[in-house]
Formats: sequence, structure tokens, C-alpha cells
Amino acid sequence: MPRSVWFALQTLFLSSDTDVMRVVGQGPPGTDFIEIVIEEGPLRQAMFRFSRNILLLSVMISAITATLVYLALLYLFVRPMNRLTTDMVTFRQDPENPTRIVVPSERKDEIGIAQRELSAMQHDLASMLQQKSHLAALGLAVSKINHDLRNMLASAQLFSDRLVSVPDPNVQRFAPSLMRSLERAIAFCQSTLSYGQVQEPPPVRRPVVLETLIEDVRETLGLAPESAVRWVAAVERGLRVDADPEQLFRVILNLARNALQALEGRAPNDPGRDQLRVTGQREGAVVVIEVSDTGPGVTERARAHLFEAFQGSTRPGGSGLGLAIAAELVRAHGGEIRLVDGTIGATFRIIIPDRAVDIGARRGERARA
Ligand SMILES: Nc1ncnc2c1ncn2[C@@H]1O[C@H](COP(=O)(O)OP(=O)(O)OP(=O)(O)O)[C@@H](O)[C@H]1O
Ligand SMILES: [Mg+2]
Repeated sequence: MPRSVWFALQTLFLSSDTDVMRVVGQGPPGTDFIEIVIEEGPLRQAMFRFSRNILLLSVMISAITATLVYLALLYLFVRPMNRLTTDMVTFRQDPENPTRIVVPSERKDEIGIAQRELSAMQHDLASMLQQKSHLAALGLAVSKINHDLRNMLASAQLFSDRLVSVPDPNVQRFAPSLMRSLERAIAFCQSTLSYGQVQEPPPVRRPVVLETLIEDVRETLGLAPESAVRWVAAVERGLRVDADPEQLFRVILNLARNALQALEGRAPNDPGRDQLRVTGQREGAVVVIEVSDTGPGVTERARAHLFEAFQGSTRPGGSGLGLAIAAELVRAHGGEIRLVDGTIGATFRIIIPDRAVDIGARRGERARA
């Protein structure tokens, strides 16, 4: 076989038109052999024609195949990839526009997966951005309210300063608490305004006498001694918490206010309308504070989103921010807050750890001294 190919090529390229080819083969029955003598010139012409035709045919078949492969690639991969890229670019230009989110096809291959994943990612991103812009708008609104509230409180403070000169013993009894509350409210508005809108400033910690702080909470709640709700404070004598006093005050005030609201929601002659108890004790390097009441307890619905802003409220007129604020402030102290299970009414436990002591710094201080 290779010999025949070689001879054919020889005839085509190496022989001249004057060459003659002699073919000898077995003859039909009754003859010895058969011999054919032909000129190679016409044979070569015929072979050239044939080769040219084969070449043309191969080029045509290749061109058709290439076109078909190109079209298949274009429709199956290049176009969808182009569309995906264009979708990404248009989404990036305006990510808050929901009409720019990719609508994925039903394809099962990698491009289909890429489309679905991109669409899911765009949905997540769009809703996150929407939430963020709501929060930013809310932050701005809070700042404005805070600003004007601070001014109003400042004028209230001016009037309350005059109360000190009123000789009435009742006024003399309540005026200092009123002034302290106003001072606290003004300082709070001021710090929120100067720090920013959404986040709480980091705690400025120092040892705080818990008993005094809890007494301030009672005064701020306005619980009269003759109130139907009994206030019990059971704090270890002289207990100091390593905390930001203003922030810890807000935490306990929010919990105590919730407890009071739960108790006041009951009928005045209900025996369950009884006690609001705040306890505090040191356990090694942490201080445990509990605020408990003998009210109806926290409902299942409220438990589902208890410490989430705007989610946990089941109270008419409640904003669902109290516990979220308390949790944020406690976490800023590296502590934890949770609802204790299996108690009468509701008990919230706060754990505030002391700050870690930097032994190296202490040693340095002692050495300097
Ligand atoms: N001591 C409690 N007893 C019963 N339910 C409580 C108690 N504390 C909280 N809850 C429930 O948890 C919900 C969320 O409390 P949270 O303080 O976060 O919001 P709120 O009191 O409704 O509104 P606000 O933002 O004015 O505090 C309340 O609506 C209430 O249903
Ligand atoms: Mg509340």
C-alpha cells in the first residue's frame, strides 16, 4: 500500500510528459498475461484535476464545518457570556435598581449556574443596599430629632434650675432628681450627635458603684414608694462594676422599664402585679446583674426576635428598640445579655466582665514609681 502511494506521487511530481508507463498483470483465462503501455502525460493531467477537485471539496467542507462550529459556539456560549457580562456592568452602574437584576434561564450547564448565582447575589446586594439606605435615612432623622430635643431639654434645664429656690419641701425633694435626669438626657443627646448617627460610642469604662446607679434607675422610672409595684434592689454592698456608667444606666433602665410595663399591664388588684427586682453580684472577674419581674413573662412571639431592632415589640406603642439597645451596649462591654428560662415572670441576666489587666503596663508603671 505505501509503495502504491509512493509510485502515485512519483508519477505526479517526478515523471515528465514524455514518460511511458507499462503495466503488466495476470491475463484473463486462456492468456498468459496482459500488458498495457500508456503515456504518463494525460494520466498526470487527470491526476492533477482529481487532486484539485479533492482540495476544493476539502476546503468547502472545512469552511462549512468551521462556520457551523462558530455559530454553535456563538449561540451556546459567547452570546450568553456576553449577556452575562453586560448584565453585570449595567447592574454595577445602578445596583439599587431592581430592574437590573439578571433573570436567570433554565440552563443546567455552568452558564445557567453562573446566571442563577449572579441573580441571587444581586438580589442579596440590592436588599442589603435598600436596608442600608433606610438605616441612613433613619440615622439622619434621629440626628435631627436629637439636635432639637437637646435644645428643648436645655431650656427645660434652665427652668428647673429656678426650682432650687422654691422653698416647698416636695419641690426640694424632687428637684435634684429632675435636674440629674435633664443633665443626663442632654449629655446623651450631645454624645450621640457628636459621635455619629447609627452606632453607639465606645464605652468609657470606670468602676461604678452599682447600688447608686440602680437607685438612679428607680428615681428615673418615677416609682413612688406607695406604688402597687414593689421595687426590690438586692445588690452586694459596695459592689463596683467596670463599665460606662451612662451606658449601664441605659441598659438597666430599659430592662426595668420593660418589667414595669409588663407589671402595669396587669389589673391593679392582680396578685401577679407585685415585684420588680434588681440584683447584682460579683462572680470572680464578672459582675452578674439580673432584672426580674413577676409579670406575665415574655411571649413566644416576642422571644423570636427579642434583641433585634424594630422586630421584637409586641407592645402597642412599643418600638422594639429597648432590648436591642441594651444588647448592643452590653456587647460593647464584652458582656452578654439573655432571657433566663424557667422563671416566674421574666428575668433578664446581664454579665459584664472586668477589663483585661495589662500586666506589662502595670509592671512598667510600678517600675517608674
Ligand atoms: N419584662 C418583660 N415581660 C414581658 N415581656 C417583655 C419584657 N421585656 C420585654 N418584653 C417583650 O419584648 C418586647 C421587646 O422589648 P423592647 O424593649 O425591645 O421593645 P418595646 O418595649 O416593645 O419598645 P421600646 O423600644 O419602647 O422599648 C416587648 O414588646 C415585650 O413584648
Ligand atoms: Mg422596652
